[in-house]
Amino acid sequence: MHFPEYRARRLRRNETLRSMVREVRLHPSDFILPFFVRHGKGVKNPIASMPGVFQLSPDLLLKELEEPVSRGIPAILLFGIPEKKDPMGSEGYARDGIVQRAVASVKKAFTDLVVITDVCLCEYTDHGHCGVVSHGDVDNDATLELLAKIAVSHARAGADMVAPSDMMDGRVAAVRDALDEAGYDQVPIMSYAAKYASAFYGPFRDAAESPPQFGDRRSYQMDPANSDEAIREVAMDVEEGADIIMVKPALPYLDVIWRVRNTFELPLAAYSVSGEFAMIKAAAQNGWIDGDRCMMEALTSIKRAGADLIISYHSLEAVRILQGDSLSSRQT
Ligand code: PBG
Repeated sequence: MHFPEYRARRLRRNETLRSMVREVRLHPSDFILPFFVRHGKGVKNPIASMPGVFQLSPDLLLKELEEPVSRGIPAILLFGIPEKKDPMGSEGYARDGIVQRAVASVKKAFTDLVVITDVCLCEYTDHGHCGVVSHGDVDNDATLELLAKIAVSHARAGADMVAPSDMMDGRVAAVRDALDEAGYDQVPIMSYAAKYASAFYGPFRDAAESPPQFGDRRSYQMDPANSDEAIREVAMDVEEGADIIMVKPALPYLDVIWRVRNTFELPLAAYSVSGEFAMIKAAAQNGWIDGDRCMMEALTSIKRAGADLIISYHSLEAVRILQGDSLSSRQT
């Protein structure tokens, strides 16, 4: 293909042509929208570093779900902020824990919505680590038992899918065994398979009130420099029974998404995390970028890299744009 026989610009001449040869399209069914729930009634606490995102009590969560559900977003991902934190994260697997309550009320109101729950201890432990701490270290095998308890209690409350995000070795098998034993063999696992020790989780830790009180998460989350290791991590989770695999964060790891896409044949999710959201919002608020266009471009890149599903705080805004206020018509 050589100039002048091939002129790449021929198919870019107008929006109709561009749309005919477009390779990747976002669709409402690609998105999973995360929410933070906390106890109470009428609670809607803004999160400073995540404009437009709130900690919600279950009653207001139901209200917030009306628009995304009516626009065809198929799934949400729930995070809980407990009443009390303790060393073993016991509200994480309490029958009346915040996530368990929220799941029950959401499923009652929106039967078809897929409710996915984050399975981790960090929101529930007073030390803020994703597992049981002994002798200043996170004890992998002691943690597995608690993760399994959390997953089963979420399934019992009505969760459609569980998403272990802790990065302990062997947790997918532990969660799968426990779910099966408790009679939830139909509940799929979306595993945070390649999850990096990322600074892009900063705003989330404000939102979930879960920063580690000592040290950091580098002894269990992945080193940002590694992608061979991501393949080993994902292979392990696939072997252990993951139904959907996830790469997280998304934008700084598009190469990892691409590699995982080309190595495994399971549905692949990418988590575009709080820091990715905050960067776009902050720059847009300053008038430094066009927030909507940067958002759509970033989300498109994640799908182009190979993600089937995108977990994003932008999900609703993006779907609004897809369904009405189309970018191309606003651009003139
Ligand atoms: C819990 C968890 C975290 C995120 C999702 N699940 C925080 C962490 O690992 O520190 C981050 C999500 C985001 O930043 O949007 N383990």
